[in-house]
Amino acid sequence: METQHRVVNGDSRDLDQINDDSVELVVTSPPYPMIEMWDELFTNLNPEVGDALDAGDGQTAFERMHEELNRVWDEVNRVLVDGGIACINIGDATRKVDGSFRVYQNHSRIIDAFGDRGFEPLPELLWRKPVNSAAKFMGSGMLPPNAYVTLEHEYILIFRNGEKQRKFEPGSERRYNSSYFWEERNQWFSDVWMDIKGELQSLGQDELRSRSAAYPFEIPYRLINMYSVYGDTVLDPFWGTGTTSLAAMTAGRNSVGYELEREFTKVFQDRVGDAPNFSRNVIRRRLDDHRDFVEEKHEAGDDFKYDAENYDFPVTTKQEKPMLFYSVKSVEKTADGYRAIHEPVEAEGFDSTVKNSSEEVTSLTDF
Ligand SMILES: C[S@@+](CC[C@H](N)C(=O)[O-])C[C@H]1O[C@@H](n2cnc3c(N)ncnc32)[C@H](O)[C@@H]1O
Repeated sequence: METQHRVVNGDSRDLDQINDDSVELVVTSPPYPMIEMWDELFTNLNPEVGDALDAGDGQTAFERMHEELNRVWDEVNRVLVDGGIACINIGDATRKVDGSFRVYQNHSRIIDAFGDRGFEPLPELLWRKPVNSAAKFMGSGMLPPNAYVTLEHEYILIFRNGEKQRKFEPGSERRYNSSYFWEERNQWFSDVWMDIKGELQSLGQDELRSRSAAYPFEIPYRLINMYSVYGDTVLDPFWGTGTTSLAAMTAGRNSVGYELEREFTKVFQDRVGDAPNFSRNVIRRRLDDHRDFVEEKHEAGDDFKYDAENYDFPVTTKQEKPMLFYSVKSVEKTADGYRAIHEPVEAEGFDSTVKNSSEEVTSLTDF
């Protein structure tokens, strides 16, 4: 299997190099309006943002910032296929402007923006950020009533483009090969993720790390496995250091990203160099976790009804039988990004080899 990863050093308010209806999934984290680190960027996109902030008018600055994001959401609407999913990672902002402290609710603005564009909202996720500061509480200490709740979560807002789900041919092999484990389903599709770690794999420099506001790899990786299948293309219009593309590559999907800052696009070169090793570790971890799950069930005296077709281990449901994992074998630079070659993963630790994957794929009925 081969995947393509295009990187455009440009402005996603005009996704000029992406055709209409050519992307199956969007996974992204925009700059958060009213978080100070993005003031300059938004002011460059629209000088009225800086004017409003200088005048102490937080509400107008907030509106102007979202107007710029809305232009990107228009483009997302154009390039995403009918039934395609958009996952937007966003946090709210607390800020004192002109003596008045308040919260700026970015998440509700973005829900409205996608609704206005004909997207259907789907149940959203919250994820708990690692917060380690003892001095994180704001306001007047132990004295009521003027202390403020600390924001320790972010949202992953999920929208479907239009009313109808994507259609697949019955028994679609690429869809069935893309299945995830039953126990992963239980973890990934529960609405609060408490287990996301803050560390950023393969992203060395501290200064760049904080300036890019990169999200943990696990976030795009889960979302891509949840909402796309092998062969799909994942777009990140706020690409940063390319965490979404690294996750797409690791998951065997194509990707395309837009990023204004050329410096960040260079960081990806280092990250991608390690992709073969990195992807093997990610898949090995998933397989090891499944092996632990199998052992625990066996110890509890429970048995499994099904065997995986491509591996020598049991699975809980019929839908998981055709699952097939790929790791990155090699990555090479192309004129507009990278090409990755993928190979099927053998289930180490299960003393197994990948069997012939062209066996007949079973149907969905028994789940
Ligand atoms: C929150 S960061 C994304 C970080 C990314 N998820 C990662 O893991 O590295 C937002 C990124 O969007 C970029 N950006 C902001 N506005 C943009 C625009 N109009 N077009 C392209 N990139 C933009 C910023 O330069 C920044 O790198």
